[in-house]
Amino acid sequence: MVEDNNLETRLAEQDEFEPPAEFVEQANVTDEGIYEEFEENWPGCWEQAADLLDWYDDYDQVLDDSNPPFYEWFTGGKINASYECVDRHLDDRGDEVAIEWVGEPTEEADRSITYEELHREVNEFAAALRDLGVGEDDVVTMHMPMIPAHPIALLACARIGAPHSVVFAGFSANALAERMNAADSEYLITADGYYRRGDALDHLSKSREGLEDVDHDVETVVVDRLGDDGPGHDLHESEHDYDDLVAEHEGATVEPVERDAEDMLFLMYTSGTTGQPKGVKHTTAGYLAWTAWTSQTVLDIKPEDTYFCSADIGWITGHSYIVYGPLALGTTTVMYEGGPDYPERDRFWEIVEDLDVTQFYTAPTAIRSFMKWGSEYPGRHDLSSLRLLGTVGEPINPKPWKWYYKHIGGESCPIVDTWWQTETGGHMITTLPGVSNMKPGSAGPPVPGVDARVVDGDGEEVPSGGAGYLTVDKPWPGMLRTLYKNDERFIEEYWAEYSDTDSDDPDDWVYFPEDGAKIDDEGYITVVGRVDDVVNISGHRLGTMEIESAVVSADGVAEAAVVGADDDIKGEVVHAYVILEDDAGGEDAVRAAIEAAVEDKIGPIARPSKIIFTPELPKTRSGKIMRRLLEEISDGEELGDTSTLRNPEIVADIQAEVRGN
Ligand code: WT7
Repeated sequence: MVEDNNLETRLAEQDEFEPPAEFVEQANVTDEGIYEEFEENWPGCWEQAADLLDWYDDYDQVLDDSNPPFYEWFTGGKINASYECVDRHLDDRGDEVAIEWVGEPTEEADRSITYEELHREVNEFAAALRDLGVGEDDVVTMHMPMIPAHPIALLACARIGAPHSVVFAGFSANALAERMNAADSEYLITADGYYRRGDALDHLSKSREGLEDVDHDVETVVVDRLGDDGPGHDLHESEHDYDDLVAEHEGATVEPVERDAEDMLFLMYTSGTTGQPKGVKHTTAGYLAWTAWTSQTVLDIKPEDTYFCSADIGWITGHSYIVYGPLALGTTTVMYEGGPDYPERDRFWEIVEDLDVTQFYTAPTAIRSFMKWGSEYPGRHDLSSLRLLGTVGEPINPKPWKWYYKHIGGESCPIVDTWWQTETGGHMITTLPGVSNMKPGSAGPPVPGVDARVVDGDGEEVPSGGAGYLTVDKPWPGMLRTLYKNDERFIEEYWAEYSDTDSDDPDDWVYFPEDGAKIDDEGYITVVGRVDDVVNISGHRLGTMEIESAVVSADGVAEAAVVGADDDIKGEVVHAYVILEDDAGGEDAVRAAIEAAVEDKIGPIARPSKIIFTPELPKTRSGKIMRRLLEEISDGEELGDTSTLRNPEIVADIQAEVRGN
């Protein structure tokens, strides 16, 4: 719920920081009039975003809101995302670096891919995909590590109008299969493996295992990342070597397909309240306009920058702010294969110094780790090339914010704390770095033109200083269009809560992101966290219901409840409360079975950090497990109302078990 103990401390410490003067002098946006201008000229204001793109055919209408909540943007326009991110930069920036790729092994040379080279490889791979049979609107799944072929594959798909669906490489075989089946995807791009903390990990076996559960035939492309370090797989008949395909199509060019503004650019599966992942659908023009415009306005990206976002392309942050936004602006985007602490805890800072990185964008969980490791690591490097810092993925407390500001930004870089979601496509709430003061712990005002509010349970705006739920009352170009092949669930999940769903008046439709929030007297919004059954582990969004069904599937488990518990570094971790079957083996055996089941169904990131065995779970009289109470127990908080429980006596036993665990 909305009352969060951390929040009180966070607000109590809240202070204000002005944008550094040297930053403001050069910032892309400095006029605070932008807020009013956008409000007065809404939705026409978004022409500014559309103007960042080159159109084959101009659009007729900025917003078509005749059938809410199925909004359409820039209708009638024709565009291609690969053209926007590659071709149009060739004249001015062909020899400039588009992607600066850094592998994990330090002895391996970085790969600087110019726009010219990117153009060549995207074309060659696009031609290869076509020859494999990929047609316009065929969904291509990717299960890839952070290697250059990943963004190249995204852009090659965009070029031929084939929507991509990226499954995070850390997700399991089962998760891959589930998503490929849901999207009817007949193509998969994967890799033999990748490096992590000095080890060469086998990845292809996992992808192959997933394919066994896909209920239709699949053509697979395999990138050879590891060479002789790799597991030495022989490719099957339906598997094609990436390098061979590209070599066979050397010099090939593929005309970018002119896509309708509202044609699907990609799908991204994300976790929701139920066990089934949601296929978030993004379309071409609105998404690209949104990511390009926010990259320029919020991240202050200019073509001559070297911008480094430490996310993985397997999540929306990587899609929007490693690949599409930065490349649409023709800048240099850095991508790094490995972890932040390999070979040492200064790896990011080494990259920043070596490449003269100008903007650095990461997650609070990473910042909390940096802080714990100590300032000596950034202290070893000259970070003076940095001009702006960003954070995303979960709330950040003032303490790590201030540490980031001081030890990474040298007190001369603004920090943008950007609230957004897979569903929003790009930034929604954040300060504009050259305009507004920063308040550590609070993301800031909504982006110009975004109508985010904090409301109570009835949808009434809370007074300043109040707490409630976040809503977005007007559509925006980067928004999801629907859940893939499931319009009903789209309405149910995001709109039903605060909309009059019988109405065709857009004013009656309100988007509900399922976050709790507070608002202050200057309209700064502090997003507290999810109000649904979604946990945020190190910035990775997972559904407790998905984890719960994996736990219950393990041998020896009779019943289970999974909750997110607070964690100093990861933000949240998974706690599983488990009732053993009568004839279960020992607790250790069941614990091992649960861990294996979770890794198998979802991936290692979802593994419970604590498994608590209990003879009973707290249940209401109607038999519902009271997960809120378990969460309070996990967090060592004072317990809320237990009067509706049918077995209140169990609570003290569980508390004792957790303390002793
Ligand atoms: C959820 C979305 C946005 C890309 C990464 C995560 C939380 C995100 C913030 C922030 C507080 C934040 C919200 C949101 N969140 N950014 N700056 N402050 N909370 O995308 O996996 O779709 O998760 O992340 O709870 O709903 P995602």
